[in-house]
Amino acid sequence: MLPRHPLILKITTICTTVVLAGVLFYNRNPNTVVHRRLMYLPTMQVGRYSFSDITALVQELNAIQNSPPTTTTEEPIHAIETYVDGEAITFDIDAEPCLKSHYLLIYVHSDPGNAERRRVIRTTWASNEILKLHGAKLIFVTGQVETLDMQASLDFESQLHKDIIQANFTDTYRNLTYKAISGLRWAQENCPNTTYVLKTDDDIVVDIHRVVRLMKAYIENKWGKKNILAGYIWPHMNVDRNKSSKWYVSPEEFPKPFYLKYCSGSSYLMSTDVVAKFYTNSLTVPFFWIDDYYVTGMLASAAGVTPTSLNDRYILENNADMAALLQNDSKTRFVFVHSPDTITSNFVWKKFLERWG
Ligand SMILES: *[C@@H]1O[C@H](CO)[C@@H](O)[C@H](O)[C@H]1NC(C)=O
Ligand SMILES: *[C@@H]1O[C@H](CO)[C@@H](O)[C@H](O)[C@H]1NC(C)=O
Ligand SMILES: *[C@@H]1O[C@H](CO)[C@@H](O)[C@H](O)[C@H]1NC(C)=O
Ligand SMILES: *[C@@H]1O[C@H](CO)[C@@H](O)[C@H](O)[C@H]1NC(C)=O
Ligand SMILES: *[C@@H]1O[C@H](CO)[C@@H](O)[C@H](O)[C@H]1NC(C)=O
Repeated sequence: MLPRHPLILKITTICTTVVLAGVLFYNRNPNTVVHRRLMYLPTMQVGRYSFSDITALVQELNAIQNSPPTTTTEEPIHAIETYVDGEAITFDIDAEPCLKSHYLLIYVHSDPGNAERRRVIRTTWASNEILKLHGAKLIFVTGQVETLDMQASLDFESQLHKDIIQANFTDTYRNLTYKAISGLRWAQENCPNTTYVLKTDDDIVVDIHRVVRLMKAYIENKWGKKNILAGYIWPHMNVDRNKSSKWYVSPEEFPKPFYLKYCSGSSYLMSTDVVAKFYTNSLTVPFFWIDDYYVTGMLASAAGVTPTSLNDRYILENNADMAALLQNDSKTRFVFVHSPDTITSNFVWKKFLERWG
């Protein structure tokens, strides 16, 4: 037998340790575990898993989704990838560009037929007086309409208020991503010196005074004026596979059973550099028709922007929080409230003012 040279022994020991450590690390790395389990998720029989299995899986997913941004882009796999040519969008109606450096540009996705909702927004939380007070500017983003009558009334409204843009796509819910890209393009072209941009919908009431205070006291101090995306985060929203649902998404359009972390489209805040990055990326990130996922999920991921949660500031359904707000509970923290109709919008705004003053 050959005498064992101490050096060979040492090398063997080191090699074995490295291999063992590697195997251990591979198995302990939550990403590998989850990714291996994810492969089975679409066929997972929930009944065969205990509750704690599923809770653990959700926790692991949260851990991954809360981890620092990576540069990989998660894109749905389309049979045929299509792109929105944002540069080819034209504006049939245009609004006045920013004539100075505003603190906040507010752009509201609006259905052309929702003149009453726009009127309420202009007379409540985004009145000229309030816009002036906060150095803000308001625009409504719409698309092309079906009838000449509606076009005529939109033209009239636009001449009166100079706050409407109408991009040349048909305004349907399946085209909302066109609306989102039109808004991003308009913002980065016409208001490049704005500090922040708030995207919202015409059925949301915003406590603008508190939002501005929140931004100055919290967002600006904690995260600064760059690379900001903040809103109501859906950490792992299930893809709607209900064929009779308006928001049904087929496995061909989006194969995974749930979306990566993204923000509800109801209201989100961006810094202006983020708006510019999102618009630029929209030219090369394939089209997906769910606009809030497209912008705050896919474009954000392509830009390496991670959303910040403001979840406790939102009321998105008519629930106990809504009841508390409407019952004069001045301690409520909510600043973005979904409102089913304009009567409620007026009422919520009144409550916001009482709470404020
Ligand atoms: C934006 O800022 C640039 C550089 O400071 C300036 O040249 C330009 O006039 C500003 N534009 C507006 C609309 O304020
Ligand atoms: C908008 O108009 C431009 C210029 O005419 C055109 O190239 C583009 O295809 C139009 N977009 C849509 C969505 O119709
Ligand atoms: C918008 O929607 C209509 C009908 O839903 C569709 O025909 C059209 O291709 C979509 N895209 C644009 C840019 O208008
Ligand atoms: C599917 O959607 C339809 C229409 O929104 C609804 O009535 C039905 O309850 C849904 N089914 C399931 C299983 O959620
Ligand atoms: C709600 O609070 C405001 C201000 O604190 C007060 O003026 C108002 O009367 C209150 N309304 C009700 C219904 O309690």
